[in-house]
Amino acid sequence: MKRVFSGFQPTGDLHIGNYLGAMVNYIALGEKLGQDAIYCIVDYHAPTNPVAYDKDLLRQRTFEAALVNIAAGLDPNKVILFVQSHVPEHTELAWIFTTQTPYGDLTRMTQFKDKAAKLESVPAGLLMYPVLMAADILLYKADTVPVGDDQTQHLELTREIARRWNQTYGETFPEPEIYLNPHAPRVPGIDGKAKMSKSVGNTIGLLEDEESIWAKIRTMPDDPARIRLSDPGDPERSVVFKFLQYFAPPELVQVLREEYRRRGIGTLVVKQLLMQEMMKTLRPIRERAEELRAHPERVLGALEEGAAKARRIAQATMEEVREKFGL
Ligand code: ADP
Ligand code: NA
Repeated sequence: MKRVFSGFQPTGDLHIGNYLGAMVNYIALGEKLGQDAIYCIVDYHAPTNPVAYDKDLLRQRTFEAALVNIAAGLDPNKVILFVQSHVPEHTELAWIFTTQTPYGDLTRMTQFKDKAAKLESVPAGLLMYPVLMAADILLYKADTVPVGDDQTQHLELTREIARRWNQTYGETFPEPEIYLNPHAPRVPGIDGKAKMSKSVGNTIGLLEDEESIWAKIRTMPDDPARIRLSDPGDPERSVVFKFLQYFAPPELVQVLREEYRRRGIGTLVVKQLLMQEMMKTLRPIRERAEELRAHPERVLGALEEGAAKARRIAQATMEEVREKFGL
């Protein structure tokens, strides 16, 4: 793993599933790789989904995505953090790849088929989405792409685009590998469903008010077989315990599990401890977020510097690409 690239959508309301499943990993890779950890807020991708795109909100959402990631611990002085549309080379490379990619490779993408099926009018950009994604990654010659397993097919296409290019125009791009972090949990919803997701509405927001978080934790489903406090509980069947594992020290979790099994402890007590432990992680994030919100120039400045660093790499790649392509 020499250089990682990952793009994330400009969305402000990030939840603890995003945090534990993706952001913690970005931060850790950034600590390890420094400037070879390249993170891009993909605002050019946003309008390919006409249901979610709103021109009046896009810039604010881009800002929020940067702010929340920085508040959560991503250090823009260490990594390269930037906004896709600040580096126009993304669209230039995407166009060149578009001319080299068989149409049929794109129409068979399952995400395209799923999303297109729900739309009355399908933007061509939705079809081209994975080509832009390939350009995003290959522009930086990244060898590793930390993303969710839902991106496996798109990444396979990126590898195919790189391979075909290298065969036709000479060795230029590595074939990047997907990095599915074995330590990144699939965080369940507060309703106990398999995945916390904003489209389902079963989330706890990273910056959500404490009262609102407590209202959600207080009403989380417990082991459904446990009706009275005197009944033994099964921590494996309790969402509360699942969440406790993410935030509380393992020794505390162990003690609580045993107590719960031995019927010595009420669910409310476990929920109060979960709240306490979760806030130990979330409180510093929201404090930093408030501070950054009071100084938006810090976020905007970091993104500007990030774009300048990204652009130097992108321009070098494009010089090579134009030359090899005959432009
Ligand atoms: P959502 O499903 O809420 O729309 P996104 O699809 O925007 O979230 O996901 C952004 C990132 O957060 C992705 O890398 C994804 O893998 C990660 N992520 C989202 N939800 C979860 C979850 N419940 N558990 C673990 N990781 C998640
Ligand atoms: Na999603």
